[in-house]
Amino acid sequence: MAEAREQWHSRAAFIMAAVGSAVGLGNVWRFPYVAYSSGGGAFLIPYFVALFTAGIPLLILEMGLGQRLQRGAPLAFGAIRKPLQWFGWWVAGLSAAIVIYYTTILAWSWTYLWHALTQAWGDQPETFFFETVLRRSEGPGEIGWPVGPLVIGMALTWLLIYLILRKGVRSVSKVVMVTVPLPMLLLAVLLVRGLTLPGAIDGIRYYLTPDFSMLTDWRIWLKAYGQIFFSLSLASGVMIGYGSYLGKKAEVTNSALITGLANCGTSFFAGFVVFSMLGYLANVQGVAVPDVTTSGSGLAFVTFPTAISQLPALNALFGVIFFVTLLTLGIDSAFALQEAFTTGFHDKWGVHPEKLARVFVLIAFPISLIFVTRGGYFWFDIVDKWICDFGLVISGLAQCLIVGFLYRVREFRDYLNEQSEVRLGNWWIWALRYVTPGVLSVILVANLLEEIKVGYGGYPRWATLIGGWGTVLLWGVLGFVLWRRPQNSDRVNARGED
Ligand code: PHE
Repeated sequence: MAEAREQWHSRAAFIMAAVGSAVGLGNVWRFPYVAYSSGGGAFLIPYFVALFTAGIPLLILEMGLGQRLQRGAPLAFGAIRKPLQWFGWWVAGLSAAIVIYYTTILAWSWTYLWHALTQAWGDQPETFFFETVLRRSEGPGEIGWPVGPLVIGMALTWLLIYLILRKGVRSVSKVVMVTVPLPMLLLAVLLVRGLTLPGAIDGIRYYLTPDFSMLTDWRIWLKAYGQIFFSLSLASGVMIGYGSYLGKKAEVTNSALITGLANCGTSFFAGFVVFSMLGYLANVQGVAVPDVTTSGSGLAFVTFPTAISQLPALNALFGVIFFVTLLTLGIDSAFALQEAFTTGFHDKWGVHPEKLARVFVLIAFPISLIFVTRGGYFWFDIVDKWICDFGLVISGLAQCLIVGFLYRVREFRDYLNEQSEVRLGNWWIWALRYVTPGVLSVILVANLLEEIKVGYGGYPRWATLIGGWGTVLLWGVLGFVLWRRPQNSDRVNARGED
């Protein structure tokens, strides 16, 4: 017999881990910006519609699938139909690809943690970010060597991931008790600081003033779905992997609801932190709020540092708090991603967690150094775009159709209902079969057309072909190889199937 599957310490540990994976950098730099540029307060309408019609139904699907089948994505899909194991490996491969580039942001954060002590960015934070920290080259064709301090940041990140994952999910249970509440607490500290600064209210007003006329633009609705998807860590196998460590009798539906609401609540809350600071910055610089508003790396590594330098006192402390927040927000998303990938090797070949963590880190670390070379920023940007806009969308679409039509979905729903205090009605099946696939197809086609017509980010085609489609398709090939490799015979017997 194979050993019993590892389990979470408690239901709370599972929910914490799921929240830890969902709440990440996406909540702090992506949500506030998307919300403000898509109708402010009015954006909450499509956002919550997306949460309830796609986010939560899919979260229940993924956690429930892992829990019921007691396996990570590769073998879980393989159990639905044998050839779908290939699809499962592809999904898990996306999570491997994400963690390899996601760690880049953590590497930047480590160096900024250091620079925050002296606010080394001075009064030119943008030049500092691109030229001093990233030493960015002219374009993706000019790669150059990895940049020393960023290599150290990368190494620290991977070392931490290894240390956390080597003891399996039991140690994850403990780590998330710190990495989930800590950034929330630090965000609260930043919020109090932000709200008590002059001009804060202008920022908040900017963030929330509803512009209902924007709701007639269908692109806003697509943005809401895209944001929900990325933010809840859907379609990457993460939630399937985490669900698989729940006991056979565990409850899923309510945990998924709690995870979804906690994640979106954190996003909403982070918006207050970000916009109160932006309001202050605009006030100091004597400009309007939109003139200081940026998203993505620009917000975390350019605009926020500027605001930190402008604070009346304790600048170094608030700088450190901000970058520790980013690090603790990101690290639990990172190890969840790695776990989602490696769990397939444990399921299929019985590889020990320590060995999995070690081998993965030893392979992934050198690959991730591509993203901290001088041209790395461009590759980071391309891979991120393709994984989020194509990889995850295709995966989510396929996942809904597979479970909706090939997996006796009514029986699955009754199974989930038996164990939960929250009962799922027919709406859940409708959401999986029609609503979510419909919306995701539109998103996919819209993105594809845009890509074909205008390309992305002004990059040359060869770069997006290699970095973008290459990354997404490479996992199709590697997934095929992993699928075809025979399962260890003791694992076949233990589970009585192949
Ligand atoms: N949800 C994470 C965030 O908001 C990102 C993530 C995406 C993590 C997909 C895992 C899987 O930052």
